[in-house]
Amino acid sequence: MLTKLPSPFIMAHRGASAHAPENTLAAFELAYQQGAPSIELDACLTADRQVIVIHDNSLDRTTNGRGPVKNQPLAALRELDAGAWFGPQFKGEKIPTLEQVFETVGKKLFINVELKNYSTPADGLVDEVVKLVLKHNLADRILFSSFLPPNLTRAAKLLPQTPRGQLIEGGRTGWWQRLAANFMALQAENPYFEDVTAGMVKRAHARKRRILTWTVDDPAEMRRLRAIGVDAVITDDPLLAKENFL
Ligand code: G3P
Ligand code: MG
Repeated sequence: MLTKLPSPFIMAHRGASAHAPENTLAAFELAYQQGAPSIELDACLTADRQVIVIHDNSLDRTTNGRGPVKNQPLAALRELDAGAWFGPQFKGEKIPTLEQVFETVGKKLFINVELKNYSTPADGLVDEVVKLVLKHNLADRILFSSFLPPNLTRAAKLLPQTPRGQLIEGGRTGWWQRLAANFMALQAENPYFEDVTAGMVKRAHARKRRILTWTVDDPAEMRRLRAIGVDAVITDDPLLAKENFL
């Protein structure tokens, strides 16, 4: 499916997160309504090993809960409100499970699942996500991405036909991910947008890799990236990207 997406295309970062609370079903549905063919989301495990969709390690910023996500079982997390912080019209939005996202938009959006177990890299997150991908028959509608190369190596072993994109941190911090990406079997490289150059795009394309860059919310940057042949911007604002990147 990644190879079938047109270039350029828009990937809604945490859903249409400029217009709806990030990583909620409302944000993913809105991305679809706004015409984005794909979304990015952040996946991690609950205390009882269920896969949920939330960006931060802590509940504090995007829910009415407090403390670390990984200490809570799913039932407790599902009690929380994950929408009211963004606006009163979103009160009642919950932290979604990955399974709910697959059920709701899995057949209509291409999904970039960022494997977000950065503070618990040996927790078996990849295996749990792969089980859900297989259960919902979505192996050709998913991209795995992660800043941690071993997550993608594990995904390649379990589900070799599903594409993988190495996330690369900005500037010098990303040197080791850049190095690892050279030696890995990947279908995409996901660098920080300020680092993307025409040469990088050309080299990636020569290796049949796509460049999916984050997080691009500036119209001038969208136009620059389009001009040098970037395949996708991962953006909070699909409407802005429709005007400036497509
Ligand atoms: O996938 C791009 C982007 O989501 C990576 O950073 O922190 O927004 O998950 P972050
Ligand atoms: Mg992310």
